[in-house]
This record gives sequence, structure tokens and C-alpha cells, in this order.
Amino acid sequence: MSRGACIRIVEVGPRDGLQNEVAVLPPATRIALIKALAAAGLTSIEAGSFVSPKLVPQLADTAQVLAGLVDCTNLRLPVLVPNAQGLAAAIAAGAREIAIFASASETFSQHNIRRSIDESLTEYRHVAADALAAGIKVRGYVSCVLGCPYEGKIAPSTVVRVATDLIAMGCAEVSLGDTIGIGTPDIACALVRDVAAEIGVGRVALHFHDTYGQALANVLACLDLGVSTIDAAVAGLGGCPFAPASGGNLATEDLVYMLDGLGLPTGIALDRLISAGEMACQVLGASSHSRAARALRRHHV
Ligand code: HMG
Ligand code: MG
Repeated sequence: MSRGACIRIVEVGPRDGLQNEVAVLPPATRIALIKALAAAGLTSIEAGSFVSPKLVPQLADTAQVLAGLVDCTNLRLPVLVPNAQGLAAAIAAGAREIAIFASASETFSQHNIRRSIDESLTEYRHVAADALAAGIKVRGYVSCVLGCPYEGKIAPSTVVRVATDLIAMGCAEVSLGDTIGIGTPDIACALVRDVAAEIGVGRVALHFHDTYGQALANVLACLDLGVSTIDAAVAGLGGCPFAPASGGNLATEDLVYMLDGLGLPTGIALDRLISAGEMACQVLGASSHSRAARALRRHHV
């Protein structure tokens, strides 16, 4: 297998990037961030989640965020949905795409969504069927694919089983989440090979947190297997409130810088992307984790 000619980036900053921050941004600011990311050329942008606002107050009012983006019909704006209640809220808010999120770790699954893996898959089967019947696209996640903050090692066979189940229930693709950013390239590639053998490499997306500085190396190695959908968060924001030490996501700016260097078209204007990241950091009172953004601004390139 060789590299795809064109890489699709799924920007998860307005969801994963915000859910672990101390600051809670109002919907208008979240809308402005999504519009800035779209202006940079991103076309798939996770807009929020329909989860418990008590547990994740940062993403409460995602309905208002979608309402403010109703004219952006050219954008894919997936939202996370954990159960039937979340799907009903997403449908009422006009969501056109949802993401359901399972785990390969029993303990993380309990911490994150208070369900066992199998209980969550049973619930997701109904959620996916109802979403598809309503004309809503469905994306799947598997978390903790390369390690769990509670259990340590995770069996690749469990990841394959959960990913295969998500595809069978109608997910268009499955994003493999290295939630705690612990993986290294050979191990990541071995897992991608195992999953791709069951669901096809075209349905595999990758979601690396960069806790150990391995995310870009992992992406590069997996691109050579033919994976062509990569999740990233502007300014390297991100983390899961239910996974201790999850660390930020791969920074979108660093990913775009590398893909530009490899001659792989993304359609993204790096300078405008960096500006969107600066805006996010300013409103959050955070610093950018993107090495490329910091270097390019320092050298005024
Ligand atoms: P639960 O306690 O089992 O739910 O939570 P319940 O059905 O027993 O209801 C309890 C309360 O939650 C009720 O409210 C419900 O109305 C409410 P109360 O009567 O107490 O006021 N509730 C909801 N409210 C809003 N939206 C809903 C909803 N469902 C119930 N959909 C639940 C189960 C999943 C809801 C909860 O555990 C939860 O919200 N967890 C948060 C999960 C989350 O957002 N995690 C972070 C994202 S996953 C991630 O970051 C990993 C990823 O990035 C990939 C990677 O990095 O690997 C995707
Ligand atoms: Mg994540």
C-alpha cells in the first residue's frame, strides 16, 4: 500500500480541543472559531457534543453553535453523541453528521460513558440506525486503541472487534483514538494493518494525541499504509476529561506543514490556520502547542 494522493483532515479543535480546557467559551466564540477554521480551508470540523452538560460544561449549548452555522452548508460539522438522548438533541439542532464513541478499554468506557463496551455497542446500534434513517451520516471512534490510562496495554483484537462492529452498524469510517498519546510508529502501523484487514484502509481514520511527541511520526508511518483521513486540533489543543494525562491532540498546523512538505494537497492555507489557532489560544488564555505555528510566527514567514 502507498500514500493516498490527497489527505482529508478532520479538525477536532472545537470539540476535543475545548472539552478539557478550564475556560468555558460562549457559543458565539465557538462559532467564530469554527468559521475561522473554515476560512483556512478546513471542511470537516467537529462542532461540539451532545453529552451531559454537567460532566462537560465546555460543550454545553452545542445546539446554539449549530444554529449559528446553519448557512455553512458546505461544511461537515460532526457532533459527538453518546446515546439516544444525545441523538434526539442533535436531530433537533439540525446536525447532519454525528460521531459515536466506543472504547477498546472496559475501564475507560465506564469512566467516559458509564457503560461497558458491549452495553455501549448495543446502544450505538440503535443510535446509528435511527441516525441513518434520519439521513444523518455516522462516524465511529474507538478510544484507547494503543493503551489505557487505567488498564495499560490493550489487546489489538479488541480494537478490531469494536471497529468492525461500528462499521457493521453503519459508520462510514472509524477513527482510531490513541487517547493518551502513548503509541509509537511500528505499534500504530501494526494496529492499522489489523483493523484495515477487516474494514478496509479507506475506512480507517487516525486520532493521535501528542502526549509523548509521537503523533506526527505515527501519522507519517500510517500514511504509508494508505490511511488518508487524519484528525487534528488547531494549536494542539485537546484531551479527554475522563482520561488522566491524555495530552493535546496532534496540532493541525504541524500536520499541514508536514503534508505541504510532502507535496500532499490539503487545500488549507497555513497562515490562516495559524491565525485561527492564535484566536483560540487568546480566548482560552492558553499557549499554542504547534511547533510549526510558533516557528513560522517567530520567523515571520
Ligand atoms: P449517565 O449518567 O449514564 O446517563 O451518563 P443517564 O442516562 O443515567 O442520565 C443521567 C443524567 O445525564 C440525566 O440528567 C440525563 O438527562 C443526562 P439529570 O437527570 O441528572 O439532570 N444525560 C444527558 N444530558 C445531555 N446529553 C445527553 C445525556 N444523556 C444523559 N446525551 C453519559 C451517560 C454518556 C451521558 C455521560 O457519561 C456523559 O455525558 N459523558 C461524557 C462523555 C464525553 O463527552 N467524553 C469526552 C469525549 S470522548 C473523547 O474525548 C475521546 C475521543 O476524542 C477519541 C480519543 O481521543 O480516543 C472521541
Ligand atoms: Mg481525543
